[in-house]
Amino acid sequence: MTIVTKTASLDGKNASCWTAAAEHTRYLSLAGTHKAETVIVGAGIVGLTAALRLCEAGRSVIVLEALRVGRQVTGRSTAKITTQHGLIYHYLIRNLGRLAAQSYADANRAGLDRILDWAIAHGIECDLEIKPAYAYTTNAARYGEIAAEANAARQVGLEAEVVDRAPLPFDTAGALRFPDQAQFNPVQYAVGLARAVEKLGGRIFEMSRVVSIDEGNRWRVLTDAGKTDAENVVVATNMTIKSPIGMANRTQPRSHTAMAFRLSDSTQFEGFFLGVDDPTRSIRTGRDDKGPLLLVLGPKFNTGQETDVAGRFLELESWARANLPLGDLAWRWCNEDYDTPDRVPYAGLAEPDKSPGFYVATGFNAWGISNGTAAGMLIADRILGRPPSWEKLYDPARPYDEKFHINGESRSMVESVDDIAPGDGGVVVRAEEKIAVWRDISGQLHTVSAVCTHKGCTVSWNNADRTWDCPCHGSIFAADGSVVHGPARTPLHPVDL
Ligand code: FES
Repeated sequence: MTIVTKTASLDGKNASCWTAAAEHTRYLSLAGTHKAETVIVGAGIVGLTAALRLCEAGRSVIVLEALRVGRQVTGRSTAKITTQHGLIYHYLIRNLGRLAAQSYADANRAGLDRILDWAIAHGIECDLEIKPAYAYTTNAARYGEIAAEANAARQVGLEAEVVDRAPLPFDTAGALRFPDQAQFNPVQYAVGLARAVEKLGGRIFEMSRVVSIDEGNRWRVLTDAGKTDAENVVVATNMTIKSPIGMANRTQPRSHTAMAFRLSDSTQFEGFFLGVDDPTRSIRTGRDDKGPLLLVLGPKFNTGQETDVAGRFLELESWARANLPLGDLAWRWCNEDYDTPDRVPYAGLAEPDKSPGFYVATGFNAWGISNGTAAGMLIADRILGRPPSWEKLYDPARPYDEKFHINGESRSMVESVDDIAPGDGGVVVRAEEKIAVWRDISGQLHTVSAVCTHKGCTVSWNNADRTWDCPCHGSIFAADGSVVHGPARTPLHPVDL
C-alpha cells in the first residue's frame, strides 16, 4: 500500500506575512440581545467597507466576526489594489458586451479610489504604495493578446499601455502596464476600517461565529452567546454561510499558494506583476516587522481536489529561486476565493421579493480587494437608496452556467491508518463511517468525522496547511475539526477510532 500524501519539509512560517506586521484587535464577543438597522456577518474588506459607508451616513451597524478582524481571506490575499485583473476587459467585452465591461471597470476604479481616499481620510497606516500594475507574458506568441487587452481597457476608460518587457529580472515578451495602481497590508487596512467604524458608532464583535440567520422581526442573527435583530443582514463571509439562493452552487472554490521571501532591496521592483501564461505567477513586494519581502503566488487549484498542496509550494519556490533574487523563505500560506462562470462577482440583494434586506457578496475571482470594496459599497449604497451603476452587473441572482460548479471527491482515502505517515492525514472508512485521521509528527493520531458539516461531502487532507479541505464548496477545517473557512458553520464532529 502506498502512502497517499507525502510530507513536505517546507521552511517558513505557515501564516500570511501581513498578520505579523499588523496590529491585533481585541473586540468583545457578542453576548445578550442587540438591535441595529444592519448586521454585517464578516469583518473582512467587504463587511467593513459596507459598515463604514453606512456609519458615515449615520446608520446603525453591528459587525460580527467569527475570528479576528481582517485576518481571514482578506488577510491572506495578495493585496493588490488594481483595476488590472489579467486579461479581463477583452473577455468581458467579447462575452458580456461593452457596457458590462464598462461597469466592471467603474466598480473596480471606484473600489481603488475608495481605499486610497479612506486610507488618507482615516489616517490608516497600512504600507500603502502607489505602483504600476503589469500583466506580462514570456511567450512572444501572446503579445497580440496583451495588445488586445490594452485596447479593451482603453475602451472602458482605463489608462493602459503595452511595453516590450516587464521590469523584472527575467526575460518577458511583452507586458500590459496600468499606471497609478496600489498595494498595501490588507490586515492593517481592515484594522483601520474597524477603528473608523467604531469611532462613528458602529459596534464590532469578534470571536462571534454566526450559527444561524433566521427571519425574526425582519432578520435574527444568532451566535452561541447572543443575538442581533436587524432590518438588513449582509453576509460577507467570502463564501456565504447562508443565502436564500445557494451561492455555493454558482461558484467554484479555488485556492492558491503564496510565499514571502526575505529581500535585500525592494526598490528594484518598481511595480507589481501578474503572469498571464500557464502556470501563472504573481509577484509583489511587501514587508513584515523584520523588513522587506518579495511575495510570489502560484496558480489556482480546486480547493480540496489537490493531492499534494505541499508539492505546489516546492514547485513555486523552485521557480522563484531560479528567476528572482530571494533570501530565506519567511512565510507561506494558502488562500481561497471563489470563481464565477462569467468572472464577475455576486453582490447585492439575494432575493429582493422574498427575502427583503438579505444581502450577499461572494465570487471575487481572486480580485477581492478592489471587487470586495466595490461590493461593500454597492450593498451599503443600496441600503442607503442610491445604488451604484454596477449593481445590475453584480446581481447575485443573475442566470449562470450550472455546469460551472463541480462537486469534487476526497483525494485522501486510505485503506488503513497504517498508510498515513507522521505529519500527514488520510480518510479511513470504518463500517459506514468516514473518519479523518491526522497523524502528528510524534505519531499520535487525531480523529474527527470526515463528513463536511455543510452538505456532507468528504473532506481532503491539505498536506501543507494541515487542514481538512472540502472539495465541494470549499469549507476548510483545522486538523482538530474547527472551522477555518465556511460555508460550514459548525466543526467536524468528534469521533474516536
Ligand atoms: Fe459544502 Fe463541504 S463545503 S459540503
